[in-house]
Amino acid sequence: MKEQKTEVLFTKEEIQDRVKQMAGEVSGDYRGTVPVLVCVLKGAVVLLSDFMRRLDIDVEIDFMAVSSYGNSTKSSGIVRILKDLEASIENRHVIIVEDIIDTGLTLSYLKEILLSRNPASLKIAALLDKPERRETDIEADYCGFCIPDKFVVGYGLDFNQMYRHLEDIRVLLEFE
Ligand code: IMP
Ligand code: MG
Repeated sequence: MKEQKTEVLFTKEEIQDRVKQMAGEVSGDYRGTVPVLVCVLKGAVVLLSDFMRRLDIDVEIDFMAVSSYGNSTKSSGIVRILKDLEASIENRHVIIVEDIIDTGLTLSYLKEILLSRNPASLKIAALLDKPERRETDIEADYCGFCIPDKFVVGYGLDFNQMYRHLEDIRVLLEFE
């Protein structure tokens, strides 16, 4: 595979600091409850893994995989469930853990599906947000970093399934 040029946007240390802050906020907000963290596969696994270990409250985790029809860099808004949650979320406090909100189409669809299952509450924690590209009015309740309209990889985020293992987050230059 052709080596692509990348440029570091957030270092490992910057990401770890921010994830720790987000976990502190969530721990405070959910004290006394046992929320379910719903990790959206595959991109959010790295965030989930770091984030959950920074919490000082009890949580359960569950996984969901969705695929949006479209190519690797553009979302179509039509989402298919590839893997559903294992457990019921009825009357549970749910936090969707997502890597990035781009157009917002994936998350607004997911939110609708999960809300129809009557959780006690539903919030979104996303590491990255690209507000410029939004096509719906969805917002993260807990957001790591707002970023410009650039395609990024690393820390779970991929380009054609590559780069997920990087510890920092990088802008992929000349990706098309
Ligand atoms: P949305 O439906 O447009 O918000 O798309 C969200 C999904 O697109 C994310 O969960 C990512 O999988 C993917 N995505 C959007 N932007 C990027 C990016 O810059 N790098 C890698 N994946 C991205
Ligand atoms: Mg994703």
